[in-house]
Amino acid sequence: MFSVVVKATQMAQSFVEKKLCEYDNAVDATLGNGNDTIFLSNILKKGIVYSFDIQKIAVDNFKETAGRLNISNVIAVNDGHENMDRYINKSVKAVMFNLGYLPKGDINIVTKAETTLKALKKGLNLLMTGGIITIVAYPHEEGRRERDEIFNYLKSLNPKDYAVMEIGFINRYSNSPSVIVIEKNSSSREDI
Ligand SMILES: C[S@@+](CC[C@H](N)C(=O)[O-])C[C@H]1O[C@@H](n2cnc3c(N)ncnc32)[C@H](O)[C@@H]1O
Repeated sequence: MFSVVVKATQMAQSFVEKKLCEYDNAVDATLGNGNDTIFLSNILKKGIVYSFDIQKIAVDNFKETAGRLNISNVIAVNDGHENMDRYINKSVKAVMFNLGYLPKGDINIVTKAETTLKALKKGLNLLMTGGIITIVAYPHEEGRRERDEIFNYLKSLNPKDYAVMEIGFINRYSNSPSVIVIEKNSSSREDI
């Protein structure tokens, strides 16, 4: 049946869902309110979800939710995604980024170009061949510079190693989010 996806975050999930099986491991680089983490956790019945947020409140809230929903396959880390390689010792099939600030949270705590880029490169190195990274990017204020820097970096990736595309709305307000999708086609490693 044809279904219309209206939100960029749902679009990102629909790409990831097609890639994952229950034995895979994955990363939610921006835990926030936990929507992507719960989505990943529901698919990875025999794998692990590594989730990161610099806000302790996001991690604490998620742990409470995990207890209530009996979620036991998530490792929620109160640290920046730029340090993800310190916590993950296996390759992963998917990494999801949802940039910007936490909805209904502190709008001054936002993802930043420098740390996002570092995390993106670490994510590419942790990603197994055939794996996918999704980035929901918002081109407003700090987000515009962040998105531009991500684009500059992604343009430099060898097309033999990665397929990179962006999906965006063309009939919505100019600051509407877009989804960047990166598929890894080889075992190449990126310089951090
Ligand atoms: C748009 S929200 C994420 C929303 C989340 N995916 C959800 O489902 O609710 C962005 C989150 O990134 C977090 N963040 C900002 N910088 C970060 C960093 N360096 N590492 C990890 N998380 C970061 C913010 O605290 C915020 O919670």
